[in-house]
Amino acid sequence: MELLRKLSNAAGVPGHEHEVRAICRDALTGHVDEIEVDRLGNIIGRLEGQGPKVAVAGHMDEIGFLVSHVDSEKGFARIDPLGGFDPRTLLASRVNVHTRGGALPGLVGSKPIHILKDEEKKQPPEISDLFVDFGMPGDEVGRRVRVGDPVTLRQDFMEVGKLVSGKALDDRIGVYVGIEAIRRMKQRNADVYFVGTVQEEVGLRGARTSAFSIAPDIAVALDVTVACDVPGVQPHEQVTALGKGVAIKVKDSASISHPGLVRFLVDLAEEEKIPHQMEILPRGGTDAGAMQMAREGVAVVSLSIPTRYVHSVVEAAHQDDIESAIALLTAFLENCHKADLQL
Ligand code: CO
Ligand code: ZN
Repeated sequence: MELLRKLSNAAGVPGHEHEVRAICRDALTGHVDEIEVDRLGNIIGRLEGQGPKVAVAGHMDEIGFLVSHVDSEKGFARIDPLGGFDPRTLLASRVNVHTRGGALPGLVGSKPIHILKDEEKKQPPEISDLFVDFGMPGDEVGRRVRVGDPVTLRQDFMEVGKLVSGKALDDRIGVYVGIEAIRRMKQRNADVYFVGTVQEEVGLRGARTSAFSIAPDIAVALDVTVACDVPGVQPHEQVTALGKGVAIKVKDSASISHPGLVRFLVDLAEEEKIPHQMEILPRGGTDAGAMQMAREGVAVVSLSIPTRYVHSVVEAAHQDDIESAIALLTAFLENCHKADLQL
């Protein structure tokens, strides 16, 4: 879990994943035969072997912002979102603004309730209304902060009961699961590539280019999925539940998993007694959506880690589900040469 803690605490908005990439490089070194970084910033670690070519992808980026305007008179900045934020989760939060001179702390400010008009109280804020307060004179902000500086939310990773919680579990958990599986593999029956992808949250961009260059037969996206097993949600709307195991994705709005891979994973999980659940996500997608359309097509599936409060800074996942995901992925990588991909 120390690796997951480091990954979660690291900063990496889309297009600026270097901190996460460095952690991945360290964690992969000594466990793969070669490591490459492509022009978009995807990191690719290869475990060379005979058999099918398999790519396993977890995205390194997290939702965040870029500074879009600096008010060097009053000392505030405006921000432009990278990824799908719920603005209700942004009020009253702290951020890091990653300037050339290092990270500067800032506050997402808003009007206090004491002066809100009745109609303002009913409406959630829009991101375009938000601003970052640096607590510094305007001219100093003007000197230190530039348009284009990445902005991440501040939140420390922690254990809460049986859960782990923090920012960017979407998708540092996927990155963690992929690296752990690579480290635990005992047999090589496939040519395996771990890919830490970039820019997933803005349109699966790194997955597209890395799948083109690797040209895999099979690709597995590792990502979080929605767990709505909370008060006020009907059982049929939960998607997944925490503690019930890794989710084998059947479908989301970006991909339909290869039925042969789904069958193979379910059988494998049953044989190995790995807790698992099936997932259909009505809205949202993973890197599998881009990977399945690489070149002449790739057989894809996603393994999901059920997560509550996705795209907020209190994202939470069950430690046992993370273990189940690592166990199933490891077993898959050791046995995927036996999968029947006939449609
Ligand atoms: Co996401
Ligand atoms: Zn994700």
